[in-house]
Amino acid sequence: MIKLKKIGLLTSGGDSPGMNPCIRAVFREAAQHGIQVMGIRRGFAGLLDNDMFEMNSNHVSGIIQKGGTILLTARCEEFKYEEAQKEAINNLVKNECDALIVIGGDGSFHGAQALAGRGLDVIGIPGSIDNDIYGSDMSLGVDTAMNNIIEAVDKIKDTASSHERTFIIETMGRGSGYLALMSAIATGAEAAIIPEVKYDLEKIAARIKERYKQGKVSNIIIVAEGASTAYQVARQLSKIAGIVSKITVLGHLQRGGSPSGYDRTLASRLGSAAVLKLLEGYSGCMVGLVKGEIKVTTFENVFNNKRELGPRMIELAEVLGK
Ligand code: ADP
Ligand code: F6P
Repeated sequence: MIKLKKIGLLTSGGDSPGMNPCIRAVFREAAQHGIQVMGIRRGFAGLLDNDMFEMNSNHVSGIIQKGGTILLTARCEEFKYEEAQKEAINNLVKNECDALIVIGGDGSFHGAQALAGRGLDVIGIPGSIDNDIYGSDMSLGVDTAMNNIIEAVDKIKDTASSHERTFIIETMGRGSGYLALMSAIATGAEAAIIPEVKYDLEKIAARIKERYKQGKVSNIIIVAEGASTAYQVARQLSKIAGIVSKITVLGHLQRGGSPSGYDRTLASRLGSAAVLKLLEGYSGCMVGLVKGEIKVTTFENVFNNKRELGPRMIELAEVLGK
């Protein structure tokens, strides 16, 4: 066990439901070991502005059920440059922080890695609705975002069926098709268009026409933003096959709301593990959930590997969506 007196904590990149319960878990586990926590506002931007405060138990009480992040988050282009990273280290030293915990996505871990490369002890916790981070089967916020999507698609299905309509629904996910694919499986959508698979709109159009012939009353196509846009798909379906469709872009509602039970427990486990791993002397790595257990993966491995969608998931969506 190494000795730690004070650690910095920040959330960075897109917010995700689960960040707040994770902040709480970090604070409480740290307190258990007599470690103070400096809450850094607005991610790396706040670290550069020396915008931090000493957290106390009041800051984390009543936040387990809250979406978003009480520490605020931001994107900070400047942090990609050495000058900014040096300034960040200076600010952490000024505030007597021995280590840093970063809750965020792959981009944020590049910033974390840069600080670890300058000798700071740093641990990452995967927080991103995209579920594109290697080294964790699930990232914080994915389950809640999925539930948000499912709730929205179920509602759209009611009106789609009443009007015998085709809907094209666009989900977030950046370069990952995870949210689109899994929510297609979970809502019984007819097709998922994702960046991981070359899509064939002629085939999708033929399926839609066949379904109407069979007397099916609606069609739901889920498009991952990394593959195309709902507008583009709708235009193409109209051009190829004369199919008229309605469009819903789910946008940021996917990222909001109270974290699900799954996200709260995952956040609690990962937040606590991050502190314990720092005490064990780990740095330059991320804590994640692998096959039900907490595992450590170096940032190097996180960056050099791709989180796969999972065996048979693409085939499953295809078979069940017929
Ligand atoms: P996410 O962490 O959700 O993947 P971003 O990719 O937007 O989100 O990254 C969040 C922040 O992490 C960026 O705004 C920047 O401050 C920092 N960051 C991203 N890439 C790098 C990099 N290559 N070097 C240093 N910092 C980075
Ligand atoms: O990385 C999370 C994410 O929600 C992506 O799915 C999406 O592309 C992006 O962030 C949106 O970012 P912003 O909130 O800055 O529009």
